[in-house]
Amino acid sequence: MSDTPESAPRVVLGVGGGIAAYKACELLRRLTESGHRVRVVPTGDALRFVGEPTWAALSGQPVATTVWDGVHEVPHVRIGQSADLVFVAPATANILAKAAAGLADDLLTNTLLTARCPVVFAPAMHTEMWEHPATRQNVATLRSRGAIVLDPAEGRLTGADTGRGRLPEPAELFEAARLALRRGTAAADLSGLRVVVSAGGTREAIDPVRFIGNHSSGRQGYALARTAAARGAAVTLVAANVSLPDPAGVRVVPVESARDMAEAVAAERAGADVLVMAAAVADFRPVAAVGSKIKKSGDAPAPIELAENPDILAGLVADRDREGLAQTIVGFAAETDDVLAHGKAKLARKGCDLLVVNRVGGGLAFGTEDNQAVILASGGGAFEVPRGPKDDLADRVWDLVADRAGPARPESP
Ligand code: CTP
Repeated sequence: MSDTPESAPRVVLGVGGGIAAYKACELLRRLTESGHRVRVVPTGDALRFVGEPTWAALSGQPVATTVWDGVHEVPHVRIGQSADLVFVAPATANILAKAAAGLADDLLTNTLLTARCPVVFAPAMHTEMWEHPATRQNVATLRSRGAIVLDPAEGRLTGADTGRGRLPEPAELFEAARLALRRGTAAADLSGLRVVVSAGGTREAIDPVRFIGNHSSGRQGYALARTAAARGAAVTLVAANVSLPDPAGVRVVPVESARDMAEAVAAERAGADVLVMAAAVADFRPVAAVGSKIKKSGDAPAPIELAENPDILAGLVADRDREGLAQTIVGFAAETDDVLAHGKAKLARKGCDLLVVNRVGGGLAFGTEDNQAVILASGGGAFEVPRGPKDDLADRVWDLVADRAGPARPESP
């Protein structure tokens, strides 16, 4: 039996009958090792992929699939009622359909009906099944009722095919579970919002092996994307040269240079409710990248002539205003001195709604796990965010965005 204290957060891990069930073992391990009390509720088909002893041994809890096991404890009601989080991974097309229809023909579907805590589905299936109108409708129904349905990742599926439908990696599923748990019943407050976040640092080619770049690790942008997806938003992350795993539920568009980023953001912006430019965009690029590697010649090196890159953030504000779109636009300012004064001037200059101003250099912000900032609002507010994890700053940004963007709207299938 588990030696996790009774007071530990209670997680129900629902496991569907898909090949990705093996990844749920690793998620379970991460949850138990970080002090959660986990009750695994697999479907009968899930046990064809991973057997009952594995779930029981990893969770330290009894495992049941039907409402007929341990009937005296009324498990079909009690497990859902007492949960702090229900996390279903992998959620098959069948589970999504049953949950949307409110069926209750096994222990997991009964649990979904009795749970009053946050419910997160991490779907995994073949692309055709994910894209089928029936599944789209079921996902929209579940989201409109407050469930978080993470978009699956793109990549290798069972067999030779690739596409959207992969279960995100266990470490990222764990992050989604942790974030949903800590928000409790306010978990899905960004549901219905489409957000685009940029992250990382652009690289401007000098020749085929060299570039002008910066120290951005992408962590703050990834934290923004991860927290938005965990709060129910549909998230596209335009990532410049970041070597971090894709956050669960987030569509990642990799780019390299400032001009690539401008193009990728332009392709996404029209349908977005919120645009967040967290990337460190190079202001200048070499006028032309040299086609072959520059060699030492013994003479003085030739100067690199620079051209100015487009200001993506300012362009987004101009496009929004010209088209009269109801978009919230958030910028970042990395400053080394006179942080607040520069921040206020930048907010006015860029015309965005919120500007997250942080001090960089001297070990702060770039590449670190923590961040500290002042968020300036175009209406005049200034919100201090004390030093803490980048997820905390991200959540604060989303709180302010949610206040401005108004109540979440239901998704249309
Ligand atoms: N930004 C952008 N396009 C650029 C440069 C910056 O979209 N070509 C965005 C950044 O993503 C950030 C904000 O503008 O959200 C501010 O970036 P920062 O580098 O601090 O400001 P700059 O406009 O470059 O101003 P300065 O270099 O004078 O500080």
